[in-house]
Amino acid sequence: MPDSAPPPSTAHAEVWARLAARAADPAARNVREKLRRDANRFPRFSASGAGLVLDLSRTALDEALLADLLALAKAADLIGALKRQMRGEIVNPTERRAALHTAARAPDGAGIRAETSDGWQDASALVERERARLRAFVIGVHDSTITTASGVPFASVLNLGIGGSDLGPALATEALATIRPRLAARFVGNVDGHGLAATLAGLDPARTLVLVASKSFTTRETMVNARVVRAWLSGALGEEKAALHLAALTANRAAAEAFGIAPERIFAFGEWVGGRYSLWSSIGAAVALARGWDAFAGLLAGAQAMDTHAISAPARRNLPLLLALAHTWHASICGYRASACLPYDSRLARLPAWLQQLEMESNGKRVDLAGRPVSFPTAPVVFGEPGTNAQHSFLQLMHQGTDIIPADIVLIARPDHDLAENHQILLANALAQGAALALGQSEAEARAEAEAKGEDPELAPHRTFPGDRPSIFIYLPRLDPFHLGALLALYEHKVALQAALWRINAFDQWGVELGKRLAQPLERALATGDPAGLDPASAGAVRLLAGLA
Ligand code: F6P
Repeated sequence: MPDSAPPPSTAHAEVWARLAARAADPAARNVREKLRRDANRFPRFSASGAGLVLDLSRTALDEALLADLLALAKAADLIGALKRQMRGEIVNPTERRAALHTAARAPDGAGIRAETSDGWQDASALVERERARLRAFVIGVHDSTITTASGVPFASVLNLGIGGSDLGPALATEALATIRPRLAARFVGNVDGHGLAATLAGLDPARTLVLVASKSFTTRETMVNARVVRAWLSGALGEEKAALHLAALTANRAAAEAFGIAPERIFAFGEWVGGRYSLWSSIGAAVALARGWDAFAGLLAGAQAMDTHAISAPARRNLPLLLALAHTWHASICGYRASACLPYDSRLARLPAWLQQLEMESNGKRVDLAGRPVSFPTAPVVFGEPGTNAQHSFLQLMHQGTDIIPADIVLIARPDHDLAENHQILLANALAQGAALALGQSEAEARAEAEAKGEDPELAPHRTFPGDRPSIFIYLPRLDPFHLGALLALYEHKVALQAALWRINAFDQWGVELGKRLAQPLERALATGDPAGLDPASAGAVRLLAGLA
């Protein structure tokens, strides 16, 4: 597909080379001195949009570095690429698809079309039809015009889906936990029977609505779990009544019908919504059922606000662009190969998992759009955990380990509880981590401190913090649907902008296919106990497992 990957412009290559040369100078990566010398760093290197504030003052950014990064964005026409994506052009050439998750959250009347192999389709018409159907269904469940087979209100919703059909809805449902719950929500992604069995044990089939959430409606784990759960429902209610407890969220309507889901219970979305970007489509049904339609609509509105910001805000104040540039400086130019996601709010516990799929499945690529190996590191390893828990587990390594691991720290200004002291301690800890990572503590400082306290000065090397470790702060006024939507859309656009910069495809995921294929003969071998044809390690494992079981 060389036509979809023209060589980078000379300007792009030149700025990239300039940035690489800059990164070779330790002073350019310095954070500590910049923070100490520039009292205006916060206003200078922070920006706001869609209700969020992005603070880059604890990175190595200075005016010269920012100018180079913005020049890179311009040379690579990053915002142009995002506009083409949002206009519905095919931006996923290996699957000949558009990536129009933005259409899924656009307001009615947006008139967005999607380019397909067969020409242009009316994306907004499909979004609006299915969104109206889903809304009517959700409201019907809430006002009990849609009930269980025995005519009582549904009490629980069970979402069966994996990857993007699980992580986004699970994250949003949990993040909005302080909204009065309408239905209790449970999520099962894994094919591991322990999780499914434990979940079913805690649910009453007579009061549970089951959503089979799968874009493809072929994902092995989801289909196996769906069959188990359908049998669970049928066992309790009978086959006919079980159907009244099932709905499907999918881009493959035919497969859902073949599974036995009633057509009026199938909520569809377009092929041009990628799995990991599908929260905004009918895949978000569990959020709406659990937290209310208004919450789901608020989520979409926040994401839309970020969409508008992303393509209209000036570069220097454009949150997704600034975040993409800072992350690219870290991952590709400085070579920091991991990136921590530290939400200081336990309601965002699933944010790191959602972000892992978004970043690592989108941009964990080693060839460019034309299939040529890239010559620089692409997406880093993303990991994380809410603070302050993370401080008592892995932050030791981030402060004193041999690797520099930049962190994104998410803070919510106003909590949804009355425990003011808890919240202040939480915020103080987050800010302290940023300060400690950036400023560190020199050996001389550690020695002086030990001497002042009458402690052993020989411990100074162990109490030294190198500092110069960047962190990026993202502030939300509250964790409400609107700001959550804006936060997730910020990351989606950041990922797309980085892909455009790296000239890779953020919207395919061929890397998951080989394992899926290899699982098939292994399933057979485990079932029959016959390892013929397997590689020696797999054959040995099959024999061992048969012996141990
Ligand atoms: O295997 C990877 C993947 O395709 C993800 O991209 C996707 O989110 C997940 O599987 C689930 O896919 P589906 O929604 O089609 O079941």
